[in-house]
Amino acid sequence: MSDLSTKYLGLNLKSPLLASASPLSESVDNIKRLEDHGLAGVVLPSLFEEQLALESLAVDSDLARGTESFPESANFFPDLQTYNLGPDGYLELIRHAKEAVKVPVIASLNGVSSGGWLEYARLMEEAGADAIELNIYSIATDAAVSGAEVEQGYIDLVRQLKRTLRIPLAVKLSPFFSAPANMGVRLDESRADGIVLFNRFYQPDFDIDQLEVTPSLNLSRPEELLLRLHWTAILFGHVRADLGITGGVHSSRDLLKCILAGAKVVFMTSALLRNGVQHAAHVLSEANRWLDEHEYSSIQQMCGSMSHGSVPDPTAFERGNYMKVLSSYTLRANVFND
Ligand SMILES: Cc1cc2nc3c(=O)[nH]c(=O)nc-3n(C[C@H](O)[C@H](O)[C@H](O)COP(=O)(O)O)c2cc1C
Repeated sequence: MSDLSTKYLGLNLKSPLLASASPLSESVDNIKRLEDHGLAGVVLPSLFEEQLALESLAVDSDLARGTESFPESANFFPDLQTYNLGPDGYLELIRHAKEAVKVPVIASLNGVSSGGWLEYARLMEEAGADAIELNIYSIATDAAVSGAEVEQGYIDLVRQLKRTLRIPLAVKLSPFFSAPANMGVRLDESRADGIVLFNRFYQPDFDIDQLEVTPSLNLSRPEELLLRLHWTAILFGHVRADLGITGGVHSSRDLLKCILAGAKVVFMTSALLRNGVQHAAHVLSEANRWLDEHEYSSIQQMCGSMSHGSVPDPTAFERGNYMKVLSSYTLRANVFND
């Protein structure tokens, strides 16, 4: 048996497979089940900036006004005070989960702006969270705001959190940057302990009969992993922060690819929702079998060995790959037969 253990954010993990933020980790019983089925750590579902800002407004007993100041949330959020257990329930979940399981419990904050809501991270730390994952789900709809300003917003958030937190901080990033590698390096310079690539964005669908814009959530497909592998492979070696991959990890082969690209850990949600949580144990045993067959004594041995800086032909990650794949495509013989 090969050694699957790894270290992420300074936390010792028995394997690189963790459960990412989702309703799977919304209760202590389910967190225990995730641990029993081999997940080496769990990220709790996110608490949202809008919820925390609303809570501080509630101190002034002016909830109605608070909801108006977040028109988006008033329309779309289920119930800001109870979503993902609400701020108080969330701290209880951290406390009880920490009593119930040995694997690390990572709390998740989801927001975009610097401000008072970030103080909640300290309460998560006090409740016993092993680390915080900050999901910056920013949609730059304001055409007057430049890319540089959006990026600076990310840096300000990380700096503000790092000033107050003693536990490690990981940042779950979007793929929508003109220079993702530079963004990774800047986050690293701001002392983020981990960078998680990439958030899946849930674009709304168009209902062409009702002429309505409708929310839509599809579980991921394994093809989505390629974007993550690509940028992890490029970033590996340029940052001190640990890299993690979320989005499209469905099988043991996916997990192994992530490690070869340079990820310390991989996160899984869709595959667990689709196949059941027992899928995790299958993924781990298959990964172990592959490592044995390929004579790796530990999974860490192979971390980053297929990164941009390690492969003999780095053009595979650059424009050369684009030209190669386009030129390798052959039209089906009957494509013009109608
Ligand atoms: C139902 C559902 C709820 C989710 N809730 C959160 C959340 O609260 N916070 C967060 O950062 N990500 C959330 N995610 C995103 C997942 O953590 C994960 O990053 C994403 O699904 C991609 O991984 P996958 O391909 O393994 O599903 C959610 C995903 C699903 C399907």
